[in-house]
Amino acid sequence: MNQNDLEHLAEKIALSMYPGDNIFLIGDLGVGKSVFARAMLRKLGVTGNIPSPSFIIDAVYYAGSNEIHHIDLYRLEEAHRELQFLGIYDALDSCSLVVVEWADRLESEILDNGVRINIGFTDNPDLREVSVDDRRMARN
Ligand SMILES: Nc1ncnc2c1ncn2[C@@H]1O[C@H](COP(=O)(O)OP(=O)(O)O)[C@@H](O)[C@H]1O
Ligand SMILES: [Mg+2]
Repeated sequence: MNQNDLEHLAEKIALSMYPGDNIFLIGDLGVGKSVFARAMLRKLGVTGNIPSPSFIIDAVYYAGSNEIHHIDLYRLEEAHRELQFLGIYDALDSCSLVVVEWADRLESEILDNGVRINIGFTDNPDLREVSVDDRRMARN
């Protein structure tokens, strides 16, 4: 799908979100995870600048009655991994809305609770292959 369609999909998923939902974005550098996350956050009511959270790992926004976390695990540092994971686990277990870039760096069991979105490159530089695996209904 082109960028417009990908952003549209992100908006549709944003509208389907309930407190506690986690969205896991998986795909290589430059494939469109941040594009997807930004479109989602905008639809959820986040205004203003949405920087890449890489350096702070977890950016928190408040929109309406929602607390929203934009987590990027790209720069997760080995030395602080456990500490960083503690905060991330807290966010994932909370009633806030969470979107995680580089979610394949989390344990696979964690990915079983939420919506897994795989984005891949194609031969066409403007098109991406996208698959959505929604496990929210399987949650107990
Ligand atoms: N179909 C598409 N979907 C998403 N992004 C696209 C698409 N085609 C081109 N792009 C471009 O690819 C880049 C994706 O960057 P980004 O979202 O920051 O990647 P990531 O967060 O996965 O590293 C952007 O510059 C975007 O404009
Ligand atoms: Mg990114």
